[in-house]
Amino acid sequence: MSSLSVWIAGAKGQLGSAIYRILHEDVKIEVLTSDLDVDVTDLEEVTSFVNINHPDVVINCAAMTDLAICERQAASAFKVNALGARNLAIAARKVNAKLIHISTDDVFDGTAKHPLTEFDRVNPRTVYGKSKLAGEQFVRELAPKHMVVRSSWIYGNTKNNFVSYILDGLLTEDTIFVPVDQVSTPTSADDLAEFIVKLIHSSEYGIYHASCEGMCSRYEFAREIVRLSGKDVRIEPLAAGDNPSIVNRPRYTLLDNFMMRMSGIHQMPTWKESLARFMEGKKINE
Ligand SMILES: NC(=O)c1ccc[n+]([C@@H]2O[C@H](COP(=O)([O-])OP(=O)(O)OC[C@H]3O[C@@H](n4cnc5c(N)ncnc54)[C@H](OP(=O)(O)O)[C@@H]3O)[C@@H](O)[C@H]2O)c1
Repeated sequence: MSSLSVWIAGAKGQLGSAIYRILHEDVKIEVLTSDLDVDVTDLEEVTSFVNINHPDVVINCAAMTDLAICERQAASAFKVNALGARNLAIAARKVNAKLIHISTDDVFDGTAKHPLTEFDRVNPRTVYGKSKLAGEQFVRELAPKHMVVRSSWIYGNTKNNFVSYILDGLLTEDTIFVPVDQVSTPTSADDLAEFIVKLIHSSEYGIYHASCEGMCSRYEFAREIVRLSGKDVRIEPLAAGDNPSIVNRPRYTLLDNFMMRMSGIHQMPTWKESLARFMEGKKINE
């Protein structure tokens, strides 16, 4: 008999599907689904789904995450990342549901010299970061029972992440160029999902940083993927400005999981352990 109902908006994305896989196994949780995907930018659609289904918890994994597309289509980025979050906050509040909203390290400007806690000043530079911060603000203003979870460099079992980009490159390239001056922490969607599932059962509301432990540059991340794959491909460092077609992400956005540590709810694994576990399940084609 299920005791809690959960709606995951964006359940088909890399994080949403990782959360779905865990919750699906839990007999005490009913995962609400819809035959048609609910468009989070449509307030009427969102409120109608929530009014009919009365979720206890709403998890917002829906987002426009491609930085380059966000830069080119700012209105669409704000519509999904900011107004989508607003709509879910309005609907969650109406039925007294808890809202767990996923956000990003891109809300920081990258100029810090120390790991960033939940109490550090935000100052996004990209359209993606600005739209995600606007989403956080709507959630904090409109949904009293909220948790905002910021993470970094998420990869999972879909095709639109850095690990799959490098793995695809292993099959077709001799050399892959990767930024050396972006520093943060790779985070596996499965490990992040474990933490988010714990929040379902918690009432310690607020903002949480939730990245794997440790830090690296994109270049080091790529080298570790190649090392674990056992393949022989050159990874070459690329500095900011070397490739003007790449959107300049913030340089240093190392998240300190300060709130998680203080509350004692969870402990994230190191990014290397996590990546090794992920890569064990991958078969690299010859
Ligand atoms: N990826 C990262 O490195 C990263 C890092 C830090 C934080 N985050 C945050 O983590 C969360 C999950 O990201 P992810 O990596 O799982 O992204 P993802 O794989 O791109 O998933 C996003 C999902 O949102 C859906 N979506 C987009 N517009 C929608 C709309 N209007 N209504 C309903 N659903 C919509 C997408 O569906 P379609 O595919 O059909 O458009 C997709 O299933 C996001 O909030 C993101 O900002 C991501």
